[in-house]
Amino acid sequence: MAKQRVLILGATGRTGGSILNALLQDTDSFDLEALVRPASAEKPAVKDLAAQGVKIHVVDISGAKELVRVLMGVDVFISAIDAMGQAAQLQLVRVAKEAGVKRFVPCAFITVAPPGGSHGSAGQCAFPIYLELFQTLIMLDGAQKEEVYREIWKHFVPYTIIDVGFWYQLSFPTLPSGHVDYAALVKPKVEIHAGGSAPTMLTDLRDIGAFVARIIKDPLTLNKCVAAYGDVLSENEIFAMMEEMADEKIERKYARITADEIDAKRLQATASARAAPNDPMAQLRGFIADYENSKYVRGDNTPAYAKYLGYLDARELYPEFRPRTFRVFVAELLEGKGEMPSNSYGR
Ligand SMILES: NC(=O)c1ccc[n+]([C@@H]2O[C@H](COP(=O)([O-])OP(=O)(O)OC[C@H]3O[C@@H](n4cnc5c(N)ncnc54)[C@H](OP(=O)(O)O)[C@@H]3O)[C@@H](O)[C@H]2O)c1
Repeated sequence: MAKQRVLILGATGRTGGSILNALLQDTDSFDLEALVRPASAEKPAVKDLAAQGVKIHVVDISGAKELVRVLMGVDVFISAIDAMGQAAQLQLVRVAKEAGVKRFVPCAFITVAPPGGSHGSAGQCAFPIYLELFQTLIMLDGAQKEEVYREIWKHFVPYTIIDVGFWYQLSFPTLPSGHVDYAALVKPKVEIHAGGSAPTMLTDLRDIGAFVARIIKDPLTLNKCVAAYGDVLSENEIFAMMEEMADEKIERKYARITADEIDAKRLQATASARAAPNDPMAQLRGFIADYENSKYVRGDNTPAYAKYLGYLDARELYPEFRPRTFRVFVAELLEGKGEMPSNSYGR
């Protein structure tokens, strides 16, 4: 296969960084370029990219004309933009179309769920809402992701949507000893939802890139959604594993135990969010309630449901790739080798 020219938006971020790292391991297959906003041009992280041989394009992504010039001849355009920038991708879709990009990978990289919910509707595959860390504002983007997919389909742009479940790095409970607090964004984190038995897809942030590298080389994944994951575990299984490996007893907080309780909360939060569209906290509560319902009551974020929605399964496509298991991740965490997922995570 000829070398692919790959342009990444968000290469200095967590998801984008994971992708960049993996693609840099395979320079026989990929020529790498990064789209950087003018305000970040002088950041050390951008200088690091250039030092690693990544061609840097400093462009304001709201300026269509210049973007078309940069995207001309690009084989794969990957967006790993953060939540606040999701809407900017609407214009990127149109630019990708005009420039003739051969595959656009929009910023999905989240859990699997049916289209719609309180965030709009439609689509052959979608994602839901991601949450849990409102400190980082990285989850306020579900509705806009779905809007971007619709824009892709409307403009007949070649695409691949890649969902990865939830990061391992956000999925472990904290321990009474405080031993893993150093790597926990939310502490204490001991809530169990709806009984904790729903299985859910999880991926180590550091493995996202390895999946992406395989997916974008594969003609079978063109114009498809792909679900990638390292493990499939319920909250109960995760808590039991942490207890066994850490030899500590976690005092669980059983939150919103029944499906009815979660649904009542969802309806209430959704109504409040609709009534206050400019209130970020109301929006956040709506997203979280929707997400809890999807992940813990409906049990959407599973390989079987992904397949039902039309996703390809990356574990079946690339059986030779062995992503880190959650157990391996927890062992590292307990050895003090975990890290708060920052933009330099795993580098
Ligand atoms: N599955 C999960 O558990 C999970 C967890 C977290 C996030 N996510 C998803 O992953 C996606 C990416 O999140 P993240 O946390 O990886 O992002 P992040 O670490 O915050 O990085 C965002 C990247 O986007 C770049 N960027 C933002 N606005 C830009 C603009 N206008 N022009 C050019 N570059 C811009 C930033 O560049 P600068 O260097 O210029 O700031 C940075 O490189 C999110 O949409 C979220 O839904 C999923």
